[in-house]
Amino acid sequence: MDKTPIILIIDDEPDNFDVIDTLLANEGYELGYVSNFKQAFNLLKTSQPDVILLDVMMPEMNGIEFCKLFKANPQWSHIPVIMVTALASKDDLSQCLEAGADDFISKPVNGTELRARVRSMLRIKQQYDRIQTLLQLREDMVNMIVHDLRNPLAGILFSTALLKKPGLSPERQQKKIKQIETSGSQLQVMIDSLLMMAKLESGKMMLNFKTIDLAELCTSVIQDFELIAHQKNVTIVPDLPAPGAKILVDAVLFRRVIDNLLSNAIKFSPSGSQIELKAQYLDNGGATVQVIDSGPGISENTRKTLFQKYEIGTIREGISQIGLGLAFCKMAIEAHGGHIFREDNHPQGSIFTLNLPGNIS
Ligand SMILES: Nc1ncnc2c1ncn2[C@@H]1O[C@H](COP(=O)(O)OP(=O)(O)OP(=O)(O)O)[C@@H](O)[C@H]1O
Ligand SMILES: [Mg+2]
Repeated sequence: MDKTPIILIIDDEPDNFDVIDTLLANEGYELGYVSNFKQAFNLLKTSQPDVILLDVMMPEMNGIEFCKLFKANPQWSHIPVIMVTALASKDDLSQCLEAGADDFISKPVNGTELRARVRSMLRIKQQYDRIQTLLQLREDMVNMIVHDLRNPLAGILFSTALLKKPGLSPERQQKKIKQIETSGSQLQVMIDSLLMMAKLESGKMMLNFKTIDLAELCTSVIQDFELIAHQKNVTIVPDLPAPGAKILVDAVLFRRVIDNLLSNAIKFSPSGSQIELKAQYLDNGGATVQVIDSGPGISENTRKTLFQKYEIGTIREGISQIGLGLAFCKMAIEAHGGHIFREDNHPQGSIFTLNLPGNIS
């Protein structure tokens, strides 16, 4: 929920504040009041209002001068200022706007007009806040991705430097080459995922449909994960249909979806646990695939946003969490006309289910 909007009133007359206080009483705002500019600047250093109602006629400095100073400060320039003025000539009003004011209201203040103007300014401020949050999120995400790209890259450079050194034993040479290969494929997977998601999102992804054998595909994915699962002491138990039947999917995208679900299940499962990969064809020609784990499950808070980009839910130490996997799965499965959802496993863990329709053409 959005936070309670804060409206700061700057006016040397306490009576004027009382009037505004009464007129805005039922709007659900938090009202602040200062009677001079010094107080205003002091207050602004520590708290930021969402809208300022500024009296034009003030004793020490006129409101227009204050507005100019206020709007010249990049820290505050985005906060809407409504001038409250007894002056009504076009020149006075244009002076207010020139000074950077966003709106004005004439005295005596009319309640309906005041409420409408404050609401309109708040809409702009809230829009600004939302864009700021989004920009911040993007920045964090770019930093995160760059950070995650740097690790394998650093590994490649480090191994290459070692390989250049004379006297490295053939076994160590082979080991370094293998590490370069692994890091290289990690980079490739990340970059490919980002590019595919961008394409899916823009609606420009053309699915390349092919008939595949679900059992064959799942078995091959399990093979790819065997080593990682073994290292974590996690067992993958397949429950697959007999080989032979086929389903129409974009094989690359679909495989990546299963990769992501299985990778999550292994990543978040405790050592010694079991993961089930279950697939079946449906009578309508579609198919269902489930990845069932006994891991920590998903907190109530994360459930709603689980499939959104860069949502990583509970932060788990020592585990890479970028938050792209499930967003990718959702986009890819929906591009197939199917859907994906999560349920609780009992007594513990998660069940990720994806359903593919049978009438893909
Ligand atoms: N099987 C699972 N058990 C518990 N938590 C999970 C599971 N799958 C996903 N999560 C939670 O959901 C978050 C988002 O998952 P998602 O796959 O989108 O991203 P990620 O695994 O963090 O990073 P990546 O982009 O590498 O996949 C995870 O960070 C984790 O907190
Ligand atoms: Mg993941």
